[in-house]
Amino acid sequence: MHGQVNSPDARDVLNHLHPFTNLADHETRGPHIFVRGEGIYVFDDSGKRYIEGLAGLWCASLGFSEKRLVQAATRQMNLLPFYHNFAHKAVEPAIDLAEYLVARAPVPMSKVFFTNSGSEANDTQVKLIWYYNNILGRPQKKKIIARRGAYHGITVAAASLTGLPYAHDGFDLPIANIVHTDCPHFYHYGQQGESEEQFGERLAGNLERLILTEGPDTIAAFVAEPFLGAGGVILPPKGYFEKIQTILNRYDILFVVDEVISGFYRTGDMFASETFKLKPDLITMAKALSGAYQPIGGVMMTERIHEVLVEGSRKYGQFGHGFTYSGHPVATAVALETQKIYDADHIGDHVKTVSTRFQKHLKALAEHPLVGEARGIGLIGAIELVCNKQRRENFDRSLKIGPWVVNKAMEHGLIVRALVNDTIAFCPPLIITEPQIDDMFDRIARALDDAVVHVASL
Ligand SMILES: Cc1ncc(COP(=O)(O)O)c(C=O)c1O
Repeated sequence: MHGQVNSPDARDVLNHLHPFTNLADHETRGPHIFVRGEGIYVFDDSGKRYIEGLAGLWCASLGFSEKRLVQAATRQMNLLPFYHNFAHKAVEPAIDLAEYLVARAPVPMSKVFFTNSGSEANDTQVKLIWYYNNILGRPQKKKIIARRGAYHGITVAAASLTGLPYAHDGFDLPIANIVHTDCPHFYHYGQQGESEEQFGERLAGNLERLILTEGPDTIAAFVAEPFLGAGGVILPPKGYFEKIQTILNRYDILFVVDEVISGFYRTGDMFASETFKLKPDLITMAKALSGAYQPIGGVMMTERIHEVLVEGSRKYGQFGHGFTYSGHPVATAVALETQKIYDADHIGDHVKTVSTRFQKHLKALAEHPLVGEARGIGLIGAIELVCNKQRRENFDRSLKIGPWVVNKAMEHGLIVRALVNDTIAFCPPLIITEPQIDDMFDRIARALDDAVVHVASL
């Protein structure tokens, strides 16, 4: 039973199908209901306070009580709560936000197309890339290469790009024309005696071989997160992207950089493309674009791509793509205010300062007997739990050690997330302070020490 009949718990189980939830377990476990937020903290319906160590879903960059965003939404709601951008109509906040993003893009960009989510943005990328090559008279150049371990979202095309089995199993995915290449995780896939640079070179070589095997004239684009997020917070090997970008240029392959987690100061830079010196043709963004206070994502494109889309309108008439809420006035007003707050509060400088403390704590966890690898950049990181450090061997999946640690951390008032290979991810709101970082790592250290006792008892 989930509390009393007609309790929120019981009504949730009765009526609500949850995303990314074990639906069978949910029937007996019921929901954990959250009711309030304050700074980096959220409170559940029992009144218990938690540090939100993952900023919700890697997104609540300004925490959970930023009044300036509430005011921006209220102002726009009072003025014009909805209007659209179809058929030459426009709303002012969408114009302002697009202008702001183009001006601040990491490489020269020309236009922004708005969506409601990161998944819709990546689906849009796939359609744009296909359309682009049709207009250019290269109907065979349609395949998109993504990486195993990547997460690009969960709508049909985006889930196909995602390189994680749970996104495909049982869903008849991936769709045609999506090809996957290596996961760039040196810790697991580096070979005996191979340096990180050599690993990166090997992966770039594999990518080039894949392109040649498939036929360069069939490969339209390569899509990558600057660092893998939901796939385990995996940083690119040294020199990897430099070599990859040379190969993409050699075969006229578009580079799509998925900045949905990495964008908007997670690394300290506005875009991780700056951090890793990436030169995208297309950028995907969402999440911290609006601090997650409104659902909004977007695609930013170079003029070279935009020109071809314009050519498309000469051929087909209107650009036949868009969502009712593309450039929604409240979502764009809130996103624009989020950007203004980042600027006014110098959030990039703040992240650069406090991330030293964050990374120091994170890397220190590598000494813990259960931690095989501690990895991260800026205000994002992960620890991977192993049963044998020497052999880099993960625990048997059925032991669910990662989820066990996550549950223990919750008992200690910290929300974090378990990813593949018992990897525990940290991605707190960007506004976190140094004492709060100390507190967060103190709580995870306690959960890990509990896990040592638990593992010994198995
Ligand atoms: C890198 C990346 N791309 C795309 C998405 C999909 O975004 P959404 O959940 O808003 O559809 C996510 C979500 O976590 C992501 O991490």
